[in-house]
Amino acid sequence: MALKGKVTVVGAGFYGSTTALRLAEYNIFETVVLTDIVEGKPEGLALDMNQSRPIEGFETKIIGATTTPDGAGYEATANSDVVVITAGLPRKPGMSRMDLIGVNAGIVRGVAENIAKHSPSAVIIVVSNPLDEMTALAQLATGFPKHQVMGQAGMLDTARFTNFVAEKVGVPVGSVKTLTLGSHGETMVPVPSRCTVDGKPLSEILSEADIAELVDRTRNGGAEVVALLKTGSAYYAPSAAAARMAKAVIEDSGAIMPVCAWVEGQYGIEGVYLGVEAEIGKNGIRKVIESSLTASEVEALKVAAEAVRAKQADVKDL
Ligand code: LAC
Repeated sequence: MALKGKVTVVGAGFYGSTTALRLAEYNIFETVVLTDIVEGKPEGLALDMNQSRPIEGFETKIIGATTTPDGAGYEATANSDVVVITAGLPRKPGMSRMDLIGVNAGIVRGVAENIAKHSPSAVIIVVSNPLDEMTALAQLATGFPKHQVMGQAGMLDTARFTNFVAEKVGVPVGSVKTLTLGSHGETMVPVPSRCTVDGKPLSEILSEADIAELVDRTRNGGAEVVALLKTGSAYYAPSAAAARMAKAVIEDSGAIMPVCAWVEGQYGIEGVYLGVEAEIGKNGIRKVIESSLTASEVEALKVAAEAVRAKQADVKDL
């Protein structure tokens, strides 16, 4: 298959560099651009990744580019089809994602403005935290249509939930389906009613107490990794999630994924970026899918919507 398209990953920390490598190893993009403000780091990582191509057998070319906050270096990202924004600080042990809002807002705003200048039709995938707020901010700063900007969280939280269920029940991860919606934070909404093991409802396999424990662990999934690592946050599962979203965009696949998307009326929720299921295509979100949830799950989603709405209103001034 001919390689096509260009994807940029902003931020060459562990999250960004792992995402860039995963995207390159798909061997579907013509170019993966990796940027960072640390001089030489993206170029060095790109050189190293390119040298892995003969061994791993992929032809995608990786380009590293040092950028500055005032926009130097962004020419390398010009006319990207997809841009994954990982820029910003990760959590330290004991911090909530929300503790990052002030410092990361400035970083994400600057990046989004520079990206918009050079790639006016790119689909933006935000992964910086706090996720729902940074996604809203990226849309404001780019001025892009709302369907062109989304955030990565639900794929990751769902993968964590699936992994925990598979380990608890002792089955392959491929036998388990789970779903999490809502925010990527305190008001995350794992959806047990949509969870199955080999097609059987999770409630027939595990006790209510067991399910509640796994839901809780999922909600704290990021913090559990941060506490163990002591510096930095998770990146293997997060990068896998972000890379799959970028792949769905470039392939115009129509895959349905839990993502942070602009919600307009679905579930009775109006005008907010929130974790929901959505169909992904070349222009970003094709449509938000409103699926069947229990009354209490819809209620939890509404609570999440109001919590993130309040914070998203703040970001325009940050
Ligand atoms: C996590 C961070 C990346 O959940 O938000 O691990």
